[in-house]
Amino acid sequence: MTKDALKTIRGMRDILPDQSPWWQRMERQLIEILSRYGYCEIRTPILEQTSLFARSIGQETDIVAKEMYSFEDRDGSRLSLRPEGTASVVRSFVEHNLARRQPVNRLYYLGPMFRHERPQKGRYRQFHQMGAELIGSADPAADVEMIDLMVECMEAVGLTGTSLELNSQGCRECRPGYREKLVAYLQERADRLCDDCQRRLSINPLRVLDCKEDTCIQAVEGAPRMIDDLCPACGEHFEAVRSGLETLELDFRLDHRMVRGLDYYDRTTFELKAEGLGAQDAVAGGGHYDGLVAELGGPPVPGVGFASGLDRILLNLLASLPAPEDPPVLFVVTRGDEGWHEALGLMQRLRRAGFKVISDVRRGSMKSQMKRADKDGARFVLMLGESELAEGVVAVKDMAARADAADKQFNVPLEEVQADLAQRLGERAGSGGD
Ligand code: HAM
Repeated sequence: MTKDALKTIRGMRDILPDQSPWWQRMERQLIEILSRYGYCEIRTPILEQTSLFARSIGQETDIVAKEMYSFEDRDGSRLSLRPEGTASVVRSFVEHNLARRQPVNRLYYLGPMFRHERPQKGRYRQFHQMGAELIGSADPAADVEMIDLMVECMEAVGLTGTSLELNSQGCRECRPGYREKLVAYLQERADRLCDDCQRRLSINPLRVLDCKEDTCIQAVEGAPRMIDDLCPACGEHFEAVRSGLETLELDFRLDHRMVRGLDYYDRTTFELKAEGLGAQDAVAGGGHYDGLVAELGGPPVPGVGFASGLDRILLNLLASLPAPEDPPVLFVVTRGDEGWHEALGLMQRLRRAGFKVISDVRRGSMKSQMKRADKDGARFVLMLGESELAEGVVAVKDMAARADAADKQFNVPLEEVQADLAQRLGERAGSGGD
């Protein structure tokens, strides 16, 4: 009797070997840009105390109220899989007193996040983010650096057709007044709001602004705009951010309805959208936060950050970029124990020199090993049978040469194989690059 095969959980995916080179290339390119801007990696646990997310992201947000994977640990404590990275980074920043080491900390992270959302194209329950946080400066220069970094990262991986959207959420001084105005406006139209938004009206009225229901979109047209109600300090901050972006020639559009789904933001918020992704078109988003570090027990320093959804970026790239190039394969074919032992040493030397070397570890007939080499896309096959051993050579078959070419197959003395192949493949292959 066959047993039922187990499957991945809904909304979670395996990343299989045919896609992992795309992921690796993207991650390499991102890390390269991050390090040029002076950002260092921080790795935090995937599990945290539930209260961390409730205190930072906000108890009333969809993420915390509906979407976290939470459970009770054996000792009774409440734990959650992280739904995003900022809360954990700030927790770590406070716990290790990173502010003591330097006044401004530039940190980045890469890894899986978990949200129990309704799965669809570009939206998963386990997804991957690359995020960056700059903690320790209240100056608009920090926001401009972060937006510039986000755009550069997305360009470096090859994302095209993107648009940058900008808004300000005001601060603790000016947001309450705006909130009152907005609530008054929405209450007049409450009968046109969806059930969710009727509830949001009292707990989180700003969220009504970005509801995707048609009736709500119509109801909020003409709603008061936060940027018209900014206090002088927030107004100046926003103006400076905009002028910095103009200096960098980064096009942006003001989006008055952008509120973001996390409560920790003050002042600047931003999102990057990409074409061709359907409804889930936000590939990155972030903003400035004033109170988060203090809320988590740290000094009263502000921060700014963004995170990008790598799964979404990849959907876009798979449709628009050629596959990453694989290094050429050397395939070693042997006969008998003596040939195998000689091959072990040869493969070790070649790999240490940077070549990609494979053999058929089932050690079947030479014919079946040759077939395998062909299927694996070998560029050169290196054969070690009795006659080659006797002569101290390797028989090399050039799989890319035509069958009737004079140099389709040739012998190379064992000690010259490495130099010979390096020359034939050019420096690129010898250095193991892609
Ligand atoms: P967020 O907008 O919630 O921000 O997420 C950032 C990005 O993660 C989104 O733009 C999207 O590309 C991706 N993403 C979110 N949810 C999913 C999902 N279910 N499936 C696939 N991709 C998804 C944050 O997480 C903030 N921590 C950003 C930040 C950093 N703010 C300040 N610092």
